[in-house]
Amino acid sequence: MMDMFCVEGGHVLHGTVFVDGSKNASLPILAATLAIEGEVTLEQVPQLQDVATMGQLLQSIGAAVERLDDGSLRINTCAVKSSMAPYELVRQMRASVCVLGPLLARFGSARVSLPGGCNIGHRPIDLHLRGLAALGAEIRLEAGYIVAESSRLRGADLDLCGPHGPTVTGTCNIMIAASLAKGRTIIRSAAKEPEVQDFARFLTAAGARISGAGTSIVEIDGVDHLHEVRHTVIPDRIEAATLAIAAAITHGDVTIRNAPTTHMTCVLNALNLIGIPVDATHDTLHIRASSMPRPARLTAEPYPGLPTDCQAQFMALLSTIEGESLITDTVFPERFMHAAELVRLGADIRIQNNSAFIRGVARLSGASVMASDLRASAALVLAALAAEGHSEIRRVYHLDRGYHALEQKLNHLGAKIQRTHDGSPNIAPRPHIAPLSPDNPLGSVRHAGKRSGQE
Ligand code: EPU
Repeated sequence: MMDMFCVEGGHVLHGTVFVDGSKNASLPILAATLAIEGEVTLEQVPQLQDVATMGQLLQSIGAAVERLDDGSLRINTCAVKSSMAPYELVRQMRASVCVLGPLLARFGSARVSLPGGCNIGHRPIDLHLRGLAALGAEIRLEAGYIVAESSRLRGADLDLCGPHGPTVTGTCNIMIAASLAKGRTIIRSAAKEPEVQDFARFLTAAGARISGAGTSIVEIDGVDHLHEVRHTVIPDRIEAATLAIAAAITHGDVTIRNAPTTHMTCVLNALNLIGIPVDATHDTLHIRASSMPRPARLTAEPYPGLPTDCQAQFMALLSTIEGESLITDTVFPERFMHAAELVRLGADIRIQNNSAFIRGVARLSGASVMASDLRASAALVLAALAAEGHSEIRRVYHLDRGYHALEQKLNHLGAKIQRTHDGSPNIAPRPHIAPLSPDNPLGSVRHAGKRSGQE
């Protein structure tokens, strides 16, 4: 049996909530620990299923991974011998491909399963491979695996621009590989996302020589080895945005602490455009109910544009605001699986090419819906909070991949969400986060039943 949410809509959210560390900053950093012989300590790594999956992947390669009493993660890679990432783990999470660069750079070879299909559209990894090949790696595909080999990578001048713009995890993969290559690498069309900047800060603290992270040209002077390091991961801008939209969609009054507001300019501009009053200091957001929310035209773009990872949540919000709105996604043009489920909740949305035409309705109404991916799940939770009556959201394991205890945070603000089991709504919900133990060193999320799909 899989977990589901039963949501009683119509409750206004009030109070203060705290944002966890960033999933998308944590995952490439965890992968990069494989290139560092010794111990790495990471603070503010969120307790998520994707983090647990990355932890399992590191362990399967020989690393020791431990969640300490103070909440930090300690990774020791001294015993890592293998450079093989198996299909069983890689298929659960695309970010597993982030181990390719670190393994190749440290061991001179890597064998990493191709990630396979994805629920948010076509997601090739050609740019990762093109970048590593430019650094001198020989790459071939063998029985569903990428096999990359190079006795010593060499610096190169390369361009990572793809048809939909730069690649976030691809930039990280090339940055770590180039950090241990001989000579200078220039990455053109690099992704500028805050998570890439955090990745560069982590590598720099470990002895890498990187300049320009956060701009489209990143320069890296290779070093012979990277050393032990302690690093604090940035807060999750997408979680902060999701909580802000939860406040807005319920006409609430919510303070969001530990929000990386300087990374959220475009999200705050979008809320402003919609007429939602937001006060921002460097780490706090205060969202208040809008008396006159307005429809809007939004475009999801690479950073510093509006994140594609907030597109679904904004769609839920705009579905509740009377008038005609338009959302275009230039990063993942097919990332609209949530639209049909929002329609089940009473939204009026039409998809054409990479755009969603939304006609806001006076009210959404409760229904049974199915989550298809991480951010789609978040959008459905938000819509259900605003809907009149009772909703059931199935397959919330997608949500658990990227949000730590989201329903507990929302309930703390006054929402009424019960976690239960698909098909058995009357049994008591199980604890969300399993206790830390030797068997569960990452404090991973427990799930009931089989899972599929990846983001
Ligand atoms: N692309 C290519 N070739 C490549 C790589 C990417 O054509 O080799 C295309 C993709 O298909 C897409 C665009 O380039 O159209 C951008 O993809 P990108 O590589 O930047 O995505 P990613 O690195 O795989 C990360 C996040 C995603 C987020 C995207 C875009 C992590 C672990 N994942 O993915 O997060 O949507 O960047 O910002 O950092 C999520 O958290 O829900 C999520 C999906």
